[in-house]
Amino acid sequence: MKHLYPIQTKVNREQREHSLHQRARLIWFTGLSGSGKSTLAVQLEAVLHQMGHKTYLLDGDNIRMGLNRDLNFTEEGRIENIRRIGEVSKLFLDAGIIVLSAFISPFKADRENVKQIVGEENYIEVFADAPLEVCEQRDVKGLYKKARAGEVKNFTGIDSPYEIPDNPDITILTHETSIDKSIELLIDFIESKIKY
Ligand code: ADX
Repeated sequence: MKHLYPIQTKVNREQREHSLHQRARLIWFTGLSGSGKSTLAVQLEAVLHQMGHKTYLLDGDNIRMGLNRDLNFTEEGRIENIRRIGEVSKLFLDAGIIVLSAFISPFKADRENVKQIVGEENYIEVFADAPLEVCEQRDVKGLYKKARAGEVKNFTGIDSPYEIPDNPDITILTHETSIDKSIELLIDFIESKIKY
């Protein structure tokens, strides 16, 4: 039994959304390393910001250097990584902010868990879909090469699984869609959802 007594704040999400003239949403990018999640999230955030929206971007590599620096890439490490991001996102949503998150988030159950944490109506799943061969070919960080050589363990797509989303809100085929076109598709989908 935990003896916890949550306080009731005098300012709520609705009031914050009202002052910010927007509806808060979590735009959750999932996909293999090198699939383009971060690139899309960075660009989408820039466009939303230019449109006058208040946003915040949570990105795997950044968060794992700070808040989640104690976590590794085992199944347990990834589960806890995504759970914490779900909880952090929930706080940002309560603050009225549009959150963009870019994590591999390879397990269906964890993405589902995030959806439950923040509430289904707040969650927009974007699948950055590029074939493993393309991601490995790009190998922007040189990690696929290291994983193939056995120097990096539990690497997603090599010796750790990626579970393809069953029913994402949007799928972007990043190997055949330009960034501009991708952003256009994303804005078209989310515009009505973030309108106050
Ligand atoms: S997740 O699986 O827990 O969602 P997350 O998105 O936070 O992963 O971190 C992925 C990033 O960590 C990759 O883009 C890559 O730069 C780096 N990384 C380091 N080791 C691994 C690994 N074993 N598997 C995947 N990514 C790794």
